[in-house]
Amino acid sequence: MEEFSCKTKIISGAGAISTLGSLGAKRLFLVTDPYFMKSGAAQRTAEASKCADVEIFDKVQPDPTVELAAEGTARLRAFAPDLVVALGGGSAMDCAKAMAFFAKGNYKFAAIPTTSGSGSEVTDFAILTHNKVKHPLVDKRLRPDVAILDSDLLQELPKGLIAEAGFDVLAHAVEAYVAKGAGTMTDLFAQEAFSSAYAALPASYAGRKEVRLKVHLAATMAGMAFTQAGLGLCHAMSHSLGGMFHVAHGRLNAILLPSVISCNAHVAGRKYAELARAAGMGGSADTIAVRNLRNGLIRLRRELNLPETLAQAGVDPRAVWRNAGEIVKAAQEDPCCKSNPLEVEDFLVRRILEEVTGRV
Ligand SMILES: NC(=O)c1ccc[n+]([C@@H]2O[C@H](COP(=O)([O-])OP(=O)(O)OC[C@H]3O[C@@H](n4cnc5c(N)ncnc54)[C@H](O)[C@@H]3O)[C@@H](O)[C@H]2O)c1
Ligand SMILES: [Fe+2]
Repeated sequence: MEEFSCKTKIISGAGAISTLGSLGAKRLFLVTDPYFMKSGAAQRTAEASKCADVEIFDKVQPDPTVELAAEGTARLRAFAPDLVVALGGGSAMDCAKAMAFFAKGNYKFAAIPTTSGSGSEVTDFAILTHNKVKHPLVDKRLRPDVAILDSDLLQELPKGLIAEAGFDVLAHAVEAYVAKGAGTMTDLFAQEAFSSAYAALPASYAGRKEVRLKVHLAATMAGMAFTQAGLGLCHAMSHSLGGMFHVAHGRLNAILLPSVISCNAHVAGRKYAELARAAGMGGSADTIAVRNLRNGLIRLRRELNLPETLAQAGVDPRAVWRNAGEIVKAAQEDPCCKSNPLEVEDFLVRRILEEVTGRV
């Protein structure tokens, strides 16, 4: 038996933000980060909503904390909006989703992603950090009512963000495709998201703005896949290392994903091979196709100037080994571990840590 639910209305294209006005709201609570206040995008979003009363919460920082979400929840509750909008990357969307969830009001929730990465605009996840640990909240009520994919917001994306967020999309698609909860529908979205992002990322990174909407749609499709299929060990370790060392989520995924593929290959080889062939990487025997998948990701990581090891990402390997016990524990306790195709034993996490710290 399979279940696949589509709740979020997805509106995409240039100028899609203008459709906010058609929601008929009167009181807007907008959650964003300081960058979008300064750039004027927050103001333009508020105007597009046609709301008479607007409050803007613009304090979101990358990897938002529980404390920040609690502060925002109190502000949101006091304002009593009929529309909550999140404008920004995964951090702004997650913070806003958590706030809207905890405030328990009667409003519509619209997410406007400005990075092509997290897929948070269609997922049941919101990730908050507490005491250096990233905690994924998972609840169906976190899924937004509307996702607005406006390509106008992607024109000035910095190269580093295209690369990092792009590897988040690839990791979502790869992990969802082999996850324990994968099914016919999630496979469709994961496969299309992977092929599309893998093909378009080099051009987007090189400055070809006309392909950016393609990667943006891929990010959303990967979100639709993983929110129902689940993720895996790459995300569990990315959360555990990200909480401790504050390296961008997508950079950690880029470092971890090839190693996780190698570890899972003996139970998920057939599916990894299918994904590789669908993306045009070839390989008639499964083992060759899995090798092509891993090598293709390593080549793309280099092309996008992403780090290959934790040391290259600025994390001292000695600090990793000093905290290895905590890192392993947090990874094993992360909900993403449950859907990894292979049981996540202590030694498996340590083996990947050895690879990404350059011990082997
Ligand atoms: N909820 C989910 O389903 C889910 C899934 C994956 C990741 N995440 C979370 O999302 C977060 C990462 O999100 P992200 O990669 O989108 O980055 P982000 O939201 O953390 O933003 C990173 C930086 O990029 C800036 N930025 C965002 N859009 C920009 C633009 N268009 N132009 C210039 N600068 C811009 C932001 O101001 C910020 O400083 C992590 O905390 C991760 O854990 C959530
Ligand atoms: Fe992610």
